[in-house]
Amino acid sequence: MDAKQAKAISDQWMIPTPAGAYMAGLENRPIIERAEGIEVIDTTGKRYLDFGSGQMAAALGHNHPRYVASVKRSLETISHSTKTFLNVDRLELHRRLGEILTPPLQKTLFLVSGSDAIEAAIDLARKATGGVDVLALDMALHGSTSFVTRSLTFGWGRAKHRLAAPGTSSILTPYAYRSPLAGGNDFVEKCLQLSFEMADANFTAKPAAVILEPVLSAGGIIVPPPGYVKALTKMAHDRGMLVIMDESQTGLGKTGKMWGHLYEDVVPDIMTVSKHFGAGMPVSAVCTTSEIAQQAVDNGYFATRSHACDPIACAAGVASIDIIQQENLVERAAAIGRRMQSAIEAMAKDVEAIGDIRGRGVLYGIELVEDRGTKAPASDLCRAVVAQCQQDGLLVQSRGSHGRMNVVRLVPPMVSTDAEIDRGMEILENALRAAVRGQTAKAA
Ligand SMILES: Cc1ncc(COP(=O)(O)O)c(C=O)c1O
Repeated sequence: MDAKQAKAISDQWMIPTPAGAYMAGLENRPIIERAEGIEVIDTTGKRYLDFGSGQMAAALGHNHPRYVASVKRSLETISHSTKTFLNVDRLELHRRLGEILTPPLQKTLFLVSGSDAIEAAIDLARKATGGVDVLALDMALHGSTSFVTRSLTFGWGRAKHRLAAPGTSSILTPYAYRSPLAGGNDFVEKCLQLSFEMADANFTAKPAAVILEPVLSAGGIIVPPPGYVKALTKMAHDRGMLVIMDESQTGLGKTGKMWGHLYEDVVPDIMTVSKHFGAGMPVSAVCTTSEIAQQAVDNGYFATRSHACDPIACAAGVASIDIIQQENLVERAAAIGRRMQSAIEAMAKDVEAIGDIRGRGVLYGIELVEDRGTKAPASDLCRAVVAQCQQDGLLVQSRGSHGRMNVVRLVPPMVSTDAEIDRGMEILENALRAAVRGQTAKAA
């Protein structure tokens, strides 16, 4: 299939959202045909290093042989099972996931997508506390399909949905690079004090929960400052609220620790897992303590889906945990992060457009600015860098929030070798320099 045929199909048959359809400015997207390891290959045979890990869900590389074998075995044994009964793969996944959770997290429930798990986590918090109001950070992304999760996705403009779920509101993101509150030792305190003053005034009922990502990924790879999560947890608990960690992007090793929340000495009350949990198959989980689970169930908690506990998805989940543990991918993600950080720091010595470098493990962001003094966001430059990378065989994405799309997001698979990381960094550096030259030439 060539680009012309793809465009014709897209134009005639696809609802033209930015998620994949051919639209003005997006005509040059490759049509992906297959993948090998950390490379994807388009219909022309061109290869790309996949530093987006697909949609962050191919962090174990594509078609990992252990995952393929596990899914094949499951497909040949049973392709679907009722969730009313238990099945062998499902039981094994509950045990294997339970064993790697941070105590006292222990109990799990499976669903299909990240949004599913978050919506179910919010319902769990509401049933366990008897509260209603839920807070999320104003640069967060928690989903796009369910009413509740898209209402808690503030960074990408919930106004476009016209209607928001009752009991959803935002608090300030601790964005040290841009927040007017930042600069002193009291940033965390100021940020939380103002956030909760507003939240307390806005609550319409008893509050239930606050939800956050350990690193805000789609919002622009924003790493909360040290002490933030601990202080937030205390303020939430003081109000009888539970803390939900959305570990869709940060879970299962990506940050260089098994869970993103391990960077601070606090365990969330509820956690969600998705993305590479299924190593390619859609499966997600809500995780909590025995006590919270029981309180919620006593108050009528129930959440499932027809395909929530399919053996094939559960077998993929078990394979994913096997791969992470047996190939020491948590340590590998940390090493990749160190390698990317020093490569980007070297670029930043003379590429003035690099305003900030943030990240943990394989999850990294380079914030591009017009000027390091004014920090004016360089969204056009970022778009040009991403396009040049694609042309040169590297897939990365631009991210940001509140109208800024000026962060180049890197999420190379955790199985990447040093040589692959270096190759990606070289393409990125050349693209960055070419894009800056292009902008300077245009301005002259
Ligand atoms: C942090 C976070 N939470 C939730 C979601 C939603 O997950 P899904 O697209 O699987 O519904 C995403 C998707 O990118 C995400 O990045």
